[in-house]
Amino acid sequence: MKRLFVLLFFLPVFLSAQGGMWLPMHLEKQNEPEMKALGFNLEADDLYSVNQPSIKDAICQSSGGCTGEIISPDGLLLSNHHCGFEAIQSHSTLEHNYVEDGFWAMSREEELPSPGETAMFIVRMEDVTPLALQNVSATMSEQDRQSQIDKNLAEIRKNTKKEKWEEILIRPFYNGNQYFLFVTVTYTDVRLVGAPPSSIGKFGADTDNWVWPRHTGDFSLFRVYADKDNRPADYSPDNQPLRPRHFLPISLDGIEEGDFTLVYGFPGRTDEYLPAAAIEQTADVLDPAKVSIRDRALKVMDGFMRESADIKIAYIARFANIANAWKKWQGEMQGLKTYKALERKQAYEAEFTHRINQDPGLKIKYGNLLPRLNASYAEMKEYAFARDYYQETFLRNIQVMGLASALNRWIKTYEDGNLPAFAGRQSDLNERLTAYYKDYRPEVDKAVFAALTEQFAGNMKGEWGGTFVATEAAKRGGYAELADYIFSNSTLANPEKWKALAAGEAKELGAALSQDPALLLWRGVAERYEENVVPKLEDLQSSINLLQRQYMAAQMEVFREKRFFPDANGTLRVTYGQVKGYSPRDAVIYDYQTHLEGVMEKYIPGDYEFDVPQKLIDLYKAKDYGQYGTADGQLPVAFLGTNHTTGGNSGSPALDANGNLIGLNFDRVWEGTMSDLNYDPAICRNIMVDMRYVLFIIDKYAGASHLIKEMKIVKGKKKRRKRK
Ligand code: ARG
Ligand code: ASP
Repeated sequence: MKRLFVLLFFLPVFLSAQGGMWLPMHLEKQNEPEMKALGFNLEADDLYSVNQPSIKDAICQSSGGCTGEIISPDGLLLSNHHCGFEAIQSHSTLEHNYVEDGFWAMSREEELPSPGETAMFIVRMEDVTPLALQNVSATMSEQDRQSQIDKNLAEIRKNTKKEKWEEILIRPFYNGNQYFLFVTVTYTDVRLVGAPPSSIGKFGADTDNWVWPRHTGDFSLFRVYADKDNRPADYSPDNQPLRPRHFLPISLDGIEEGDFTLVYGFPGRTDEYLPAAAIEQTADVLDPAKVSIRDRALKVMDGFMRESADIKIAYIARFANIANAWKKWQGEMQGLKTYKALERKQAYEAEFTHRINQDPGLKIKYGNLLPRLNASYAEMKEYAFARDYYQETFLRNIQVMGLASALNRWIKTYEDGNLPAFAGRQSDLNERLTAYYKDYRPEVDKAVFAALTEQFAGNMKGEWGGTFVATEAAKRGGYAELADYIFSNSTLANPEKWKALAAGEAKELGAALSQDPALLLWRGVAERYEENVVPKLEDLQSSINLLQRQYMAAQMEVFREKRFFPDANGTLRVTYGQVKGYSPRDAVIYDYQTHLEGVMEKYIPGDYEFDVPQKLIDLYKAKDYGQYGTADGQLPVAFLGTNHTTGGNSGSPALDANGNLIGLNFDRVWEGTMSDLNYDPAICRNIMVDMRYVLFIIDKYAGASHLIKEMKIVKGKKKRRKRK
């Protein structure tokens, strides 16, 4: 009876109001009724509990910022192929090309230690707002406020009980209105166990990225190792597989439209509470600028990668990274326009203003807020543009410029006459650069340099660096000539030169680097940027931060009937919704599930994005799907849900109503990538690989059935929901 009441009363409201990335410790208070109305069969404390094992104990954040989950009592870790990609690539050579061919450890001995891969779990979390904001007053300057908070946080850290092997993280929430503390434990011995070939794990690559219908088997497997006491330890052959507090059972029961789903993971960043002015700037100024820079860099790289197998393998991860945000920004700026984000925000602001005008107290407190935010964003516009232009060109896309920036301080120690300090870091940096140069091809970087410096000079204000770059190019007779000059004379852009010098005397290395033409060019731009842009930029940013913090608090006070989730900030969150298709345009309706059949429809023999391995074709032809196929003889590949996810949620488990793993989150749909700024339940969908496809690939394709044996498979447990 009670349940029925909950259902009838809340359902209509809830179904229209989905979205949100909720704090696990507040689920019971904020979300449980809605979750149950949507079909969730467990309790909030099955997801998050401090005192007993709960589902959160199976969820971890990887060093790369993705999410992963434990799926066996022996520490088997599942995440995306694109999350494990660096590890897969690092073990690959032209002879053992795991990127191309996949990799499967057929025994524990064959698992590959992957230094740099880590897995961080949350032991518990706590609201520490009152202590964090102690002695902080509204009239303080931002600087004083921050230093008071830093003091408070240091105190909290000191007084928080934790085990030796645990760590403490404290993060601001709601734009700094609240603070939460996390006790974490991080395992550092993480080994590669399995990865499908790219033609499965990256099927459709960049063409299909951010797009539905999707047919990518985007998963990889690792194993977490611990010392004999089950505690974190660096790699040692004596380490043993982690014995987790919880691992996720996997359901093969399949899904239907409308089923409850929940995604548990570490979303990186959202900005759902910005004013309309900020949205407008992103859609009209910043996204277009960043996209146009990456357009050119990607075209150059693509040209080289199509010509050379060596360059392709060296640049494949870098290319995918740069292309990923590039494509997302395009979807975002389009989506913000098509789905009228600006108008929605404006209507919301009109209601906000209307409400505070009715209440003299609120009016005094918040009456100025929006006008001041708008004025700050108007002033910010050209500085934010300059910031993005500088960062994209000189830090992100021209590799040797990014390197110059990273080494600048170190080289300065030489110039300041501190030879011991300089020499002290030489071998460490040599080691890092040697690793970095493994995938560096100067001819590619040089062509990127020529294209991007020209674009920079054409778009950056003269005194902010534009004129300097144009003059340097004119001195050499053009941008290509400037590139020639720099790339033939720079040590940083020349791995052989670096190697020879780095093996020798610090004095000679320092002398060469301080004259390095790449460094000098970078400094010329950076100095102008630091002098003419940064001070004003920081000033404006700090007043925007202050105003945004107040605006956040104001929204929570003015719209009391609304629930506010804190913007994503890389901490553990729960988002839930339903399995659901969508309709992006008139007369276009997307189904919620794809199948192996669709892989075959996209198949282009020999193509670098749409090739399909022969073995998969054979299994398809024989319809040899084992226990993973559907009753009508299909093999599911991917599915859609209304879960509100973002970057960092990749690799997150998608759970069913009973807490069983049914999918592996890896992407969102193109029309909905604006969800970071403006989640719209009508159009925003997350994309998950169906676990039946993951297990099929492990079992039937790779023959790694020993891995299936260590998992807990659930089948035939699901109650079919009544269809409307
Ligand atoms: N778009 C997904 C995410 O943001 C997948 C990216 C990896 N795939 C790729 N082709 N770059 O991470
Ligand atoms: N693909 C993203 C990730 O790597 C997820 C997303 O942005 O939806 O985290």
